Amino acid sequence: MARNKFDVDERLESPFQWKHLKRAGKYIARHKYKMIAALVMSALASAASLFIPKITQWVLDEAVPNGDTAMIGRMAMLFVGIIALSIVFTTIRSRTMAHVSQRIIHDIRSDLFAHLQKLPFSYYDSRPAGKILVRVINYVNSVSDILSNGIINMILEIINLVFIVVFMYATDATLATVIVAGLPLFVAVIILIKPRQRRAWQNQSNKNSNYNAYLAESIDGVRVSQLFDRQEVNISIMRKLATACREAWLRAVKISNLVWLSSETMTQLVLTFLYIAGVYWIGGGKMVSFGVILAMSQYVSRFWQPITNLANIYNSFVNNIAYLERIFETMDEPVVVDDAPNAETLPPISGEVDFEDVTFAYEDGINVLEHMDLHVRAGESIALVGPTGAGKSTVINLLCRFYNLNGGRILLHDRDGQVHDVSQVTLHSLRSQLGIMLQDSFIFSGTLMDNIRYGRLDATDSEVREAARRVRADDFIKKMPQGYKTEIKERGNNLSQGEKQLVAFARTLLSDPAILILDEATSSIDTQTEKLLQEGIQEMLKGRTSIIVAHRLSTIKNCDSILYISNKGIAEAGSHEELMAKRGLYYQLYTAQVKEEAA
Ligand SMILES: Nc1ncnc2c1ncn2[C@@H]1O[C@H](COP(=O)(O)OP(=O)(O)O)[C@@H](O)[C@H]1O
Ligand SMILES: [Mg+2]
Repeated sequence: MARNKFDVDERLESPFQWKHLKRAGKYIARHKYKMIAALVMSALASAASLFIPKITQWVLDEAVPNGDTAMIGRMAMLFVGIIALSIVFTTIRSRTMAHVSQRIIHDIRSDLFAHLQKLPFSYYDSRPAGKILVRVINYVNSVSDILSNGIINMILEIINLVFIVVFMYATDATLATVIVAGLPLFVAVIILIKPRQRRAWQNQSNKNSNYNAYLAESIDGVRVSQLFDRQEVNISIMRKLATACREAWLRAVKISNLVWLSSETMTQLVLTFLYIAGVYWIGGGKMVSFGVILAMSQYVSRFWQPITNLANIYNSFVNNIAYLERIFETMDEPVVVDDAPNAETLPPISGEVDFEDVTFAYEDGINVLEHMDLHVRAGESIALVGPTGAGKSTVINLLCRFYNLNGGRILLHDRDGQVHDVSQVTLHSLRSQLGIMLQDSFIFSGTLMDNIRYGRLDATDSEVREAARRVRADDFIKKMPQGYKTEIKERGNNLSQGEKQLVAFARTLLSDPAILILDEATSSIDTQTEKLLQEGIQEMLKGRTSIIVAHRLSTIKNCDSILYISNKGIAEAGSHEELMAKRGLYYQLYTAQVKEEAA
């Protein structure tokens, strides 16, 4: 099997870059007071907990030898008090930070989504939707945690480390030095293994992202897969991606265990050292008490904790910086199809259109249209016909400026006879005057009323009904269980193809476009329903400029002008009668279809 797009890992190995973190600061700054409060809470909680080894020491060295039960009681109270305080502080901190991190997720996601909505078709042409999803969902989740808790924990662990060292030295300076002497060994282990651990987890997340992307597409395309009986192939691709996922995970866990194992070994080693030194000194009559040794041994484990944690935090910073980079990269993705700097608002257009010497390529070097000229008069209906892949939809994409031209220009005439270049007017003023119907109209979840109103959000209920009536959509809507209030499932799954198109016609009519564009709008519909749709279409065409791409030529016979698109431009143009008389390409296409239908 050929390598599919899903096998390609995202590049996640990027050097730690402050600039991304700095840029992310914008999302954190709004929460700085909450974060500082959380930090203070946590610092208090951990400082309090550092008294616990001290309590052990006091009980063992003073209360027990003196049989001071009252002191034991006081110490027990102190112990309970500290634990209670820790719980309260920790709870408040978790709540505050959960809130902060949700806000951060929300803010980043909103910005990302807003940008994704603006990105041109060309951006979506080259990326699997699943990978975009992973960025919006997983990356943002994981980044938000590092930005909120990660930053706090980092500061906290540094404070912890300082506190612990202070407490250790306050307890016994010599023993503290023995413990701190073990530090280089520990740091060496971290420097050796940690980067490998990080890369292993990164690799795992990559494999996971590939898997998710494939999963998303498979769910999206499940109908087609079943139709083509592709299940077996899909399952085997999935299995391969899943195996890669599992292996990456196992490897990461193995390395992580190694880290844990070495840190455990180090702790035990230092502890042993501590006990030997302690016993030796006590035996030698030095001033080290049993309580001090026990307290110190508790500090030992606490001493490594912040160091390991800091290493972990550093790791996730490095990982998440890569995610941040991906997120910002998406936010920085240029909106190549955007309002020109001095874009004017396109005044109401007459419907007259000119393509002047238009050249266009989706991919560099492969021109789909070359030096194409086209003139549409106001109120005229023109049809684009020609073989699949000739560039009919491309003509429409360019008129709506879904892509920028590589050469030439497209002009629209306003009602005062002025001409406007589509690239020099605002996208909003341009597209709001065009109505486009595609072969497969997108129906959103929501009521039928909402779906039609999508065409013009301020339309009243009665305007919506009127539009539906005019395109003959209200016959079927009235038969629906709740009429216009019927809830439509995702993608309009509870409507037939024809019904979906009727809803879309109503939506387009409601928007009252100056130019109506139908791109194979009735192609996926049976002839019977098409007849019904034709009435709706005729209704919409009244008094409007229209550009119609139709597969069935019988539906465009009556258009004022028919353009045969082939070979990167217009090969033939004229009315049906003219083109038939010419006996050229159109004639061949038409007679072939008539024969086919008769057969
Ligand atoms: N998004 C795209 N990216 C790259 N190539 C495309 C894209 N859309 C269409 N093409 C190519 O451009 C040519 C014209 O396509 P199109 O205008 O959709 O043809 P049709 O006449 O069938 O509507 C085809 O060769 C097609 O493969
Ligand atoms: Mg097409």
